[in-house]
Amino acid sequence: MSLQQIQQFFDRHAARWDYSLDEGKIDYLRTIFKELIVQLKTPVLDLGCGTGVLLKVLPGVTENPHDIIVELDISAEMLSQIRYKQNEGARPVCLTQGDGHKLPFAGERFGSVIAFQTFPHFINPLRVIKEVYRVLRPGGYFCILHLADHKRLNNLHRNAGGAVKDHYMPPAFELANRLKKSGFVPLQTKEKEDIYLVLVRK
Ligand SMILES: C[S@@+](CC[C@H](N)C(=O)[O-])C[C@H]1O[C@@H](n2cnc3c(N)ncnc32)[C@H](O)[C@@H]1O
Repeated sequence: MSLQQIQQFFDRHAARWDYSLDEGKIDYLRTIFKELIVQLKTPVLDLGCGTGVLLKVLPGVTENPHDIIVELDISAEMLSQIRYKQNEGARPVCLTQGDGHKLPFAGERFGSVIAFQTFPHFINPLRVIKEVYRVLRPGGYFCILHLADHKRLNNLHRNAGGAVKDHYMPPAFELANRLKKSGFVPLQTKEKEDIYLVLVRK
C-alpha cells in the first residue's frame, strides 16, 4: 500500500473522524496521561495528529502549557478539521502536513513525540523510529498509545479494509524491544483490552 493511498484513505474519513472519540474516551485519555505518562516535556510533536483530538488533553499534561504543540499529519483533510476547531477558540498550534518517515524538522527539536492511534499506519516503522529519535532532545519522551490491545487493533484494521486492511501492530513488549534496539530506554509498557502503551526515553 502506498503512502498516497493511505493519505487518501484518511482524507476520506476526516469529516466524520471526531465521532469516534466521545467525551468519555477523552476523559479516559486524560487519566492515562496523568497517571501513566507523567508530565510531557515540551515542545510536543503530535505525530499523525488526525483532527487534533489530543489538543483537548495535551495542554493539561505538559510541563509548560504555553509551549508550542506541533500537529503533524500526512492528510490535509484531517488537518483542515483542526483549523475549524481553532476558529472555535481552541489553543493555537502549529499545523504541518508531513510524513513521519521524513520529518520536516531539525534534530533535537522536541521534548516529546506522541503517536496516538497512528503507529500501525506507518509503511516503514523502523524508519519512523529513527526519525523520532533524531528530532527528540536527549531525555525526551516517545509515547505510542492506543485504546485497545494489538489483537483488537489488528482486527479493527482487517475489518475496516481498504488501505489499512493489513496495517499491523505487534505486541507492546515486542515494540518496546524494537525501540530499545534503536537506542531508546523503555519506561512503561502496558497492554490490556483497553490500552496499549509504550513509553520510552531517548
Ligand atoms: C487512525 S488515525 C489517528 C488520528 C489521531 N491521532 C486520532 O487518534 O484521532 C491515523 C493518522 O495517521 C496519519 N498518518 C498515516 N500515515 C502517516 C505518515 N506516514 N505520516 C504522518 N501521518 C500519517 C493519518 O493521516 C491519520 O490521520
